[in-house]
Amino acid sequence: MHETVIVLDFGGQYNQLIARRVRECNVYCEVKSFKTPIDEIKKLAPKGIIFTGGPNSVYLDDSPRIDKEIFDLGIPVLGICYGCQLMAYTLGGEVSAAETREYGKTNTSFDTDCLLFKELPETGITWMSHTDYISKLPAGFRSTAKTEDCPVAAMECAERRLYGIQYHPEVMHTENGIKMLHNFLYEVCGCSGDWSMSNYAKTAINTIREKVGGGKVLLALSGGVDSSVLAALLAKAVGNQLTCIFVDHGLMRKNEGDEVEKAFEKWDINFVRVNAKDRFLSKLAGVSDPETKRKIIGEEFIRVFEAEAKKIGKVDFLAQGTIYPDVIESGAGDAAVIKSHHNVGGLPDYVDFKDIVEPLRLLFKDEVRQLGTELGLASYLVWRQPFPGPGLAIRIIGDITEEKIQILQDADYIFREEIAEAGLDRDIHQYFAVLTSMRSVGVMGDSRTYDYTLALRGVTTTDFMTADFARIPYDVLERVSNRIVNEVQHINRIVYDITTKPPSTIEWE
Ligand code: XMP
Repeated sequence: MHETVIVLDFGGQYNQLIARRVRECNVYCEVKSFKTPIDEIKKLAPKGIIFTGGPNSVYLDDSPRIDKEIFDLGIPVLGICYGCQLMAYTLGGEVSAAETREYGKTNTSFDTDCLLFKELPETGITWMSHTDYISKLPAGFRSTAKTEDCPVAAMECAERRLYGIQYHPEVMHTENGIKMLHNFLYEVCGCSGDWSMSNYAKTAINTIREKVGGGKVLLALSGGVDSSVLAALLAKAVGNQLTCIFVDHGLMRKNEGDEVEKAFEKWDINFVRVNAKDRFLSKLAGVSDPETKRKIIGEEFIRVFEAEAKKIGKVDFLAQGTIYPDVIESGAGDAAVIKSHHNVGGLPDYVDFKDIVEPLRLLFKDEVRQLGTELGLASYLVWRQPFPGPGLAIRIIGDITEEKIQILQDADYIFREEIAEAGLDRDIHQYFAVLTSMRSVGVMGDSRTYDYTLALRGVTTTDFMTADFARIPYDVLERVSNRIVNEVQHINRIVYDITTKPPSTIEWE
């Protein structure tokens, strides 16, 4: 059992970020919908509760509300943005619409007698995003921070351990925001910080051993971070009781199939690599519609996996790389499906097994990486950027041929090399090349060329739901461009994608 803090989600865009920040402070934390019944919250015996922001005004009829009883449990509460206003409103204060919206970096002054701001500077920048403001504090509360336009940028009722802040401490633009969260967790909630990945690895290994006993475990390994870390964890826990099936569809990036295989050599597990490139390419021949390509790959994948799994016979457990963001029940409801994602790792209908093991279910992506490092997994897998299940098939616009795959692999490899060389590989969260399949006229030497246009994409993002295009320095782009046109045949033009998501998506198909 870990000390737990609960993040109650009111539909704010930063709900998961808050939870990740709490965990970065070594406190285990779970995100729950604001609709979670009080009894369920009590059962979790949290050390503290954090209310997230949300898009609404508290005084509207259909805005998310909270039972007043939550403030009487004796558990510290921190309300952020909407959560702060909701606390004020529910406890008898007043929230009104301001004439001007306060948005972005805002100069703020703090009362450092408040535990949240203990040992922090009296002034600093905070990140604001609100139109409503607290016009009257609830009884027993006092204001502990203010800005030019906002008399209550933070409030407290120290006696009841209730705190509210109008700005977003979880985003990097707020100076000392993480320290404020840290103060809430340690000074107010009295947490001791018992959440770490080395502890987690030990516990998870023991739990897996207990559950699996002498049974056989099967894992579909994609080479992505989650399935790779899962494989490493299972390798440590149950060794050769584990069989990993790695279906290489021939649409991985350059050298990647070999890299995945190599990373697992050191463990005594059953590693099966299926080289199924020809099967996939023949099914994809002449197909250019993105959704059709995705469907073909998804279905073919299952067939190949199924055939391989049949050779093994009955297994006891199927391992799945489900991670925490996949299981969080959002306060805002489900987002619309824009693309039919294909994720390897979950194929329960096609394999004969008794039970599922999902030991990453509690972890955020950053934690999965930490766990991978802890387990000694090769860093090129631990730090691998997200890569779509259908692979390069959705980065080649239109129909797919072996030649196009080769061109894209080579160009993409150069792009990645130069980004790493420039030290940008951890700052840009995802970057890759796209073969547009559009051709245009160029000149090389004295000859006319009529060749492909390659697009480069680089994005920064916190959750891949929204993204900004990365500001890659021109000199880096210049090197990439020079190298690609010189080293890769059939590309005579390179463009950089400067759209954000939305309205674009990260991948082109
Ligand atoms: P989009 O293109 O939807 O991508 O903005 C968001 C993130 O998801 C990745 N992506 C996929 N991941 N299977 C996956 O496992 C897929 O089919 C798939 N399609 C997109 C994409 O690379 C980005 O990180």
